[in-house]
Amino acid sequence: MRVSKNLLVAGVFAGHSLATKMSTCSPNAFSFPPILGTELHSITASLVRGYTGFVAFGRPEAALIEPGGVDFCNVTVSYKHPAHEDLVSVHVWLPTAKSNERLVGLGGGGWAAGEGYGAKAKFAYWHGCSTGGRQGMAIANKYPEDFDGILASCPAVDYPSLVLSLYWPQFVMNQRNVYPHACEFELLARAVTEACDGLDGDVDGIVARLDLCHFDLQSLAGKVIDCNGKPLQVSQETLEVYKAILKGPVDPQENELIGGATPGANLVGFLGTANTVCDEDNNCARGRPFTIATDWIRLMLKKDPQFDPAKLSHEEYARMFRDARQEWGHLFGSNEPDLERFRMLGNKMLAWHAMNDQVIPLSHMRGHFDKVRATDELHGITTSDYYRYFEVPGASHCGAADGVAYPMHALEALRLWVEEGIAPEELSTVVLGSEGNRPGTPVCNYPKVANWENGSFTCRESGGQPDDSLEHQKDEL
Ligand SMILES: *[C@@H]1O[C@H](CO)[C@@H](O)[C@H](O)[C@H]1NC(C)=O
Ligand SMILES: *[C@@H]1O[C@H](CO)[C@@H](O)[C@H](O)[C@H]1NC(C)=O
Repeated sequence: MRVSKNLLVAGVFAGHSLATKMSTCSPNAFSFPPILGTELHSITASLVRGYTGFVAFGRPEAALIEPGGVDFCNVTVSYKHPAHEDLVSVHVWLPTAKSNERLVGLGGGGWAAGEGYGAKAKFAYWHGCSTGGRQGMAIANKYPEDFDGILASCPAVDYPSLVLSLYWPQFVMNQRNVYPHACEFELLARAVTEACDGLDGDVDGIVARLDLCHFDLQSLAGKVIDCNGKPLQVSQETLEVYKAILKGPVDPQENELIGGATPGANLVGFLGTANTVCDEDNNCARGRPFTIATDWIRLMLKKDPQFDPAKLSHEEYARMFRDARQEWGHLFGSNEPDLERFRMLGNKMLAWHAMNDQVIPLSHMRGHFDKVRATDELHGITTSDYYRYFEVPGASHCGAADGVAYPMHALEALRLWVEEGIAPEELSTVVLGSEGNRPGTPVCNYPKVANWENGSFTCRESGGQPDDSLEHQKDEL
């Protein structure tokens, strides 16, 4: 592993033996390295035994932890930048027994920076989902020597614009003064799924061929559905709202600002962007925005905690996309398509995105990866030699429902690629919630797509133009 200055943890533990004996798991065993502009606040170290938690809450990979849990020395270094009245805490978990000589840095989620480990290891890996995936991509670009392998799941690509786009469903509803009920959004998502389910050759409730997915939901206008035991009529206005949400943010002249929500993905409930507030008679009078989006607008862009995003004019909302990239792109952006330094070091990146991601539209990551491939192609470089991307049918943001095939062993696939040179052609999966963790359908290496024929599964070339495959169907709603 190559140690660089930006990893505080590497500095703290340089010279410290990797396997920490019980006697050395104490604050005195560690010292704070000189880092310009910082001041040590505190160091704590204590032994943790049989730990079974998992830092990134709710991730399916938690199932991989041994039932007896793990023992480690929990070291926390807290430091300040005196001019800024802040406090930064870095957690490092050191092995107590013989180490396997691997280091894993774990990314955060939402606004959380995450967890990171550091020591002299033979190999260093980064694994993060959502914000953690974005951090992995930013590391590949800005600090390419830090990790031998980076696993970026459901990355929050182009964060400054992405977070603004998470407000788009609310913006559309406010603009039209139409607030559909969750029952209606759920019906629409189900209808898209049913229309496109069989296109991969397997009717399993999962859409694996979004590129072929064309649907016409007009027949649902006026349909009366049961919603919490009461009848509810699906309105034409609701269909128009859904159409605008899938189309994605546009400026007042209808120019696209960034890709819209993925057809069939759930827009309501946990992490939903189109939640509304409704009474028991199913009357809905206002929206309930995704708080990361409203935090972003209030605190980072308007710098006014009291600002009401519902007051944004269309012009102002559209202008914010450019302003956000200009002001925060260097810090929060991760979509630099030129990864030359990372590639030249021989490091490997593996990324996957959930095809039913309810927060981060699939089109954002796909668009980014297509740019990487196009940039590499200009230089005669084969992207798949160092960077592979997979789209996981049926998975949701950083996880999947029971019954869905999930790439549980993606980190192991990355390890094999880094350490043994075995590049993953497909990602193996585990059917979540199945007895004995039954293996599921493998995930195809983009741009290959899933294909069932006569009961047997293959990954094959899609034949279509991947760049605009997500764009066609939105005009047909
Ligand atoms: C590690 O120590 C920090 C600081 O005392 C504490 O906040 C954290 O909960 C500990 N982690 C575990 C897993 O015990
Ligand atoms: C599937 O079956 C059909 C009809 O028997 C046959 O024409 C086709 O070649 C088969 N495809 C594959 C991939 O075996």
